[in-house]
Amino acid sequence: MDFDRAATELKGIPYTPAAKGRFFYNLVLERRPKRILELGFAHGVGTCYFAAAAEEIGNCEVHAVDLEQSASFEPKLEDLASRLKLDHLIRVERETSSYTWFLKRTIAEHTKDHVCVPQYDLVFIDGPKDWTNDGCAFFLADKLLRPEGTILFDDYSWSYRGHEAQTGRKYERGYIFEKMSEQEFAEPQVKAIFELLVMQHPGYSNFEVVDGDVAMARKTEHAGPKELIINTRYSLRHRVVSRIAKLARGLNMTPAAR
Ligand SMILES: C[S@@+](CC[C@H](N)C(=O)[O-])C[C@H]1O[C@@H](n2cnc3c(N)ncnc32)[C@H](O)[C@@H]1O
Repeated sequence: MDFDRAATELKGIPYTPAAKGRFFYNLVLERRPKRILELGFAHGVGTCYFAAAAEEIGNCEVHAVDLEQSASFEPKLEDLASRLKLDHLIRVERETSSYTWFLKRTIAEHTKDHVCVPQYDLVFIDGPKDWTNDGCAFFLADKLLRPEGTILFDDYSWSYRGHEAQTGRKYERGYIFEKMSEQEFAEPQVKAIFELLVMQHPGYSNFEVVDGDVAMARKTEHAGPKELIINTRYSLRHRVVSRIAKLARGLNMTPAAR
């Protein structure tokens, strides 16, 4: 499905804005995964951008996992998927406690002779953003990620306290521990997972943080240098800067064209 059509249908629905959706869409066109796993789909906006790109490249499907409560979201993933006629490309799973249990079941299902056969080429982790769940989710997802696969994390800079300061509200969705230290509330935990677990893992390289928001890495047989690229691709700042650069290029070209 054409990106613009998907973006028109998904406009205004939380949580993935169109500019970020385009980044996901282009990533699929570029890396051509056969199977995508999204952990934490909420209303399914990200899932639909992935599925729209999956339809475009062909031979690709999306598995999406969330908590049972997401069945009552308005709209829910199934509504969006059928509205966009992408439901045949999406498999929906809902768990009682956490997607870590879905990962456990999937690892068990694909284990032969004590070896797990990987199933996915792109895994997107976008759930509770805490060290315990998502740190564990990384190691579990790694078992299911094929060689040369991509792992993506949302909310690289997110913290409980940052969220409170920004919105004036306590973060209440997903899995929250009853007792956390002030350091746990204040630190961006996805950043800690990315820097201390993903970047230190011997099987990963090509580390990139996009717009301070999405972190990604590649599972490679011969992992390269532990270098972190900080990039901007879809933030408002990026869009303004690239529009100005484009205009400036246009102005420079005018005299030469005459
Ligand atoms: C920010 S939303 C996901 C947004 C979505 N990826 C998108 O593109 O629009 C986070 C979702 O993670 C889910 N979630 C939180 N903790 C979870 C857990 N432990 N297991 C499964 N899902 C979880 C929440 O129910 C919520 O729907």
